Amino acid sequence: RSYEYIQTSEPKPGVGQVTLHRPKALNALCTPLITELNQALGEFNSSDSVSVIILTGSEKAFAAGADIKEMAPLTFSKAYTTSFIESWSQLATQVKKPIIAAVSGHALGGGCELAMMCDILYCTESANFGQPEIKLGTIPGAGGSQRLTRAVGKSKAMELILTGKSFSGVDAAQWGLAAKAFPSYEALMEGTMKTAETIAGYSKVAIIGAKEVVNKSQDLPLRDGVEYERRVFHGIFGSQDQKIGMKAFAEKKKAEWTHE
Ligand code: HXC
Repeated sequence: RSYEYIQTSEPKPGVGQVTLHRPKALNALCTPLITELNQALGEFNSSDSVSVIILTGSEKAFAAGADIKEMAPLTFSKAYTTSFIESWSQLATQVKKPIIAAVSGHALGGGCELAMMCDILYCTESANFGQPEIKLGTIPGAGGSQRLTRAVGKSKAMELILTGKSFSGVDAAQWGLAAKAFPSYEALMEGTMKTAETIAGYSKVAIIGAKEVVNKSQDLPLRDGVEYERRVFHGIFGSQDQKIGMKAFAEKKKAEWTHE
């Protein structure tokens, strides 16, 4: 399938990749781009051949934000009645398979927010993150105030969002927003693929269960979250792969997953 603003591929067994590709606008996230992204993610999500998804941009830009030129003339009533930006959250709410963001270059505003919606965030040391909306007379609108605050704490998030100052990939990794910052673009893409392949080597049932329970920690109080985890953990005893994985351990063999 061919898209206008993104590219898709399956670079390794079990790995689906979406590359944001709107180079002339540094991957500014216009509504048609998000529509294509949601289509591609939906297809990978229901594809038997994909276990994990990589979301990336170019070396220069993951995404320089929501499309400012599209937003400039928007009115309150238009934004409100069309639920402007709501469709962005499909990435965070509709995709059961883990998504790894590989961020190089600019990840600003909506670009930073999109990266933060992903399940694992990898970046280059020189990546340029930020929530600069305040400079445009507005505020983050795709979860930035919530996800950045959960990741780095209130005081730092408040400072970043109120000043609009950007921060580096080194900062992102130090603060725990990114799982890792790589020294170069090549190292980022290689490291991302390696992690994706590691994950794709496991049972899909466990992969999806693991993602589900970790994400619950962001929504539920601890006690409810622990209980939720236990229920899903119990449920996984109903899978073939739990039997296969534990039997293989006992027999010192490599597990051959059925994904059932
Ligand atoms: C629309 C954008 C854009 C954006 C860049 N472009 N960012 N178009 N929306 N967010 C376009 C430029 O207009 C320009 O088009 C081309 O991409 C190249 O950009 P330059 O500015 O010439 O590149 P450079 O000098 O290298 O500067 C890179 C940059 C700068 C620092 C990233 O482009 C920039 O500050 N962009 C805006 C970043 C931002 O404020 N993002 C937050 C947006 S608000 P032309 O046609 O002139 O060549 C937001 C709200 C989120 O995201 C809330 C809801 C999701």
